[in-house]
Amino acid sequence: MAVYELPELDYAYDALEPHISAEIMELHHTKHHANYVAGANAATEAIKAEAEGEGNGDRLRALYKNLAFNLGGHTNHSIFWKNLSPNGGGEPTGELAEAINEAFGSLEGFKKAFSGAALSLQGSGWAVLGYDHIAGRLAIQQLTDQAGNTSINLTPLLMLDMWEHAFYLQYKNVKADYVKAVWNVFNWDDVAERYAAAKK
Ligand SMILES: [Fe+2]
Repeated sequence: MAVYELPELDYAYDALEPHISAEIMELHHTKHHANYVAGANAATEAIKAEAEGEGNGDRLRALYKNLAFNLGGHTNHSIFWKNLSPNGGGEPTGELAEAINEAFGSLEGFKKAFSGAALSLQGSGWAVLGYDHIAGRLAIQQLTDQAGNTSINLTPLLMLDMWEHAFYLQYKNVKADYVKAVWNVFNWDDVAERYAAAKK
């Protein structure tokens, strides 16, 4: 039995237009995300079989790397879909807004820092706003590929997919326009819920 399953989206594929096209959303969900789910299940099973069998170190190392990539992809996209909403945009409020102001000075300061993290990625990756459990505050990190370059002390709250599959069909090479557009569909209610849960 598969451990991981492709989640349904809370909205239609065309619901985020004109900011993210239906074509991108459908391919992204039904092909890219679905492949990560299949890969995470396959890697989980292969690790179990190897660990119960010969336990070969080289094979286990490769399998764990494969698991991190595919389960990372499944995790990241599962958060990303919830971070977006056709009723999104506007500004965060309440405790989330206070935490953003504390960490980044203002919403504008946060937008600049988060966009900077997204646009300065080399190759595929994600911009991540997370709750840093050690510092007890919000922090931004760059996540490379699906599972690299981040520390484990951070609970992700808001993630932006900067893989080319997330924007190229619509925005071509102009990443900055994609990053500008997504602020219109960010679901601050979802980010605020994640923040409240992470802080507990
Ligand atoms: Fe993606």
